[in-house]
Amino acid sequence: MSIRSIRLAVLVSGRGSNLQAIVDAVRAGRLQASVEVVVSDVADAPAVARAREGGVPAAVVRRRDYPSRAEFELALAGAVEKARPDLVVLAGFMRLLGPAFLDRFPGRVINIHPSLLPAFPGLEAQKQALEYGVKFSGCTVHYVDYGMDSGAIIDQRVVEVMPGDDVDSLSARILEQEHELLVGVIGRMGEQMNEHVNEPVNEQMSEQMSEQMGRRIGGKIGEGRGVRRGREQA
Ligand code: GRF
Repeated sequence: MSIRSIRLAVLVSGRGSNLQAIVDAVRAGRLQASVEVVVSDVADAPAVARAREGGVPAAVVRRRDYPSRAEFELALAGAVEKARPDLVVLAGFMRLLGPAFLDRFPGRVINIHPSLLPAFPGLEAQKQALEYGVKFSGCTVHYVDYGMDSGAIIDQRVVEVMPGDDVDSLSARILEQEHELLVGVIGRMGEQMNEHVNEPVNEQMSEQMSEQMGRRIGGKIGEGRGVRRGREQA
């Protein structure tokens, strides 16, 4: 049986270390995937430079260039769709996405977040964790629904909070785990896609993955929890 690489579109806004982890894993042969496009809402994001250095096409779609959030999301979806991705990965993409984008990729958009969700959604999750005084935090990869970091959880890594930790030290240890977690999840999703090569890819990702996680992703999307804090600037 021939193995097909899972086609990725990666959405970014900033530093791009998670993007880099994916690109490095692909290059090292540790991840059977292809990054088909990187789309950023920030023109000078370091992630855009990383993409281009890695030979990955990068597009910039800025919110300010569109009169409404829906039109911005449609433009974003257009840039992503051109690459025909199996999976859309939000890797430090700092905006909430709504139906104009998400309904085009049902069950196929995932996000990495630096806390053990449902604890500490939104911005500055590591700071929130330290301020709360938790002894363990970590990171989560989850499906994206209309809410703020509220979609079905796919996988998590635990990171112990050490005495004397500050935001930088805790963030750095969580970030190491983020890179491994995200690459691992994408790898598993690619394997599952290949186990079902005879089915249309969209169906595999939304039906089979959601069933496996014991959730109805279609049901989750559309439920949205109405939380619109932090990231959204629309
Ligand atoms: C990561 O901490 C990720 O969990 C969060 O934003 C940060 C992005 O970092 N969503 P990078 O741009 O991948 O370096």
